[in-house]
Amino acid sequence: MTNEAIIQLKDIDVTFHNKGQTVEAVKKVSLTVNRGDIYGVVGYSGAGKSTLVRVINRLQKPTAGSVDVNGQDILALNSHDLREARTKIGMIFQHFNLMNSRTIADNVDYPLKGGKLSRTERKEKVAHLLDLVGLTEKATDYPAQLSGGQKQRVAIARALANDPEILISDEATSALDPKTTSAILELLKRLNKELGLTVVLITHEMEAVKEICNKVAVMEDGEIIECGDLVTIFSQPKQPLTKDFINTATQINQALEKIYRQASTLGLDDHHQLVQLQYVGATTDAPLITELYKRYEVVSNILYGNVEILQDTPLGNLIVVMTGEPDKLKAAWQYCQDAGITITHLKPKKPGVA
Ligand SMILES: Nc1ncnc2c1ncn2[C@@H]1O[C@H](COP(=O)(O)OP(=O)(O)O)[C@@H](O)[C@H]1O
Ligand SMILES: [Mg+2]
Repeated sequence: MTNEAIIQLKDIDVTFHNKGQTVEAVKKVSLTVNRGDIYGVVGYSGAGKSTLVRVINRLQKPTAGSVDVNGQDILALNSHDLREARTKIGMIFQHFNLMNSRTIADNVDYPLKGGKLSRTERKEKVAHLLDLVGLTEKATDYPAQLSGGQKQRVAIARALANDPEILISDEATSALDPKTTSAILELLKRLNKELGLTVVLITHEMEAVKEICNKVAVMEDGEIIECGDLVTIFSQPKQPLTKDFINTATQINQALEKIYRQASTLGLDDHHQLVQLQYVGATTDAPLITELYKRYEVVSNILYGNVEILQDTPLGNLIVVMTGEPDKLKAAWQYCQDAGITITHLKPKKPGVA
């Protein structure tokens, strides 16, 4: 991975005026994607993600701001140069957008029409692209004969036909089941590695980001509220929305829901505290818990544990009930913090209180 910027958006505003209504879909967004990044843009529906990425290839003209792609000022291009620039930016979507009356091979061939390749070269190119996405056997089939995951592979092959340097994936896995989603994400990761393809991955699921992205931006109400490299964002999220996305992706929210439902059985008081411990890198849970007992006679009962591997870095999460004298608990907390562990006191709501 280099640090050469391939996409630079600066102070982008997109404002829509519709039937007397004004919608500020994107507000003052700046974003730099480096060559070779798999950059995740995550946010709920309506956050402005699609509008923002459509600015990259000028499918959407921004109301304000500048767009630099591959060293070109996209907003200054004439229509011929824009068409040329767009061939270097592939796009895939949730609903695949395949032509149903044409074979798989014809779908992939479509963007090559009117280009420089001869008929034979095009045939070879299509065969190569289908091989790349593992669909050689399906060349003469029609889209209706394919599963969702296979259709998305066709869309990927088609998006790669003109050897783009950038692939924009707008919710491309949102209509797929989890297993198929993982397979498509793995394919994107492989294309990133093998072809040096830069990927911008738009999604409402942090799980997808977690699997393959090295960078992530979180969007809310038209703004990027937090962005950075994946491990930093996952280990030190600042915004509540980012924390919520992460806690869902790491199954913490699901675990907490169960724990809170049975909170009354935990006997929480000032001697029994429910806490979340989060650590990055080589720290492991077992020695820590032994250490807390040896030093402070604090007993830790693990209710939930999880280790994620993000970009080869382990990120551990534990939910424990710590039992001990209040002043010893305090010292134990300090010990954890000094060891670089993020510790959060969890307070279940009282039963019956919404
Ligand atoms: N062409 C348009 N005209 C008017 N409003 C639009 C248009 N496109 C998007 N919007 C609005 O802009 C906001 C952001 O939409 P969008 O970029 O599609 O969000 P996301 O992709 O994060 O779901 C929404 O409020 C949406 O209704
Ligand atoms: Mg969208």
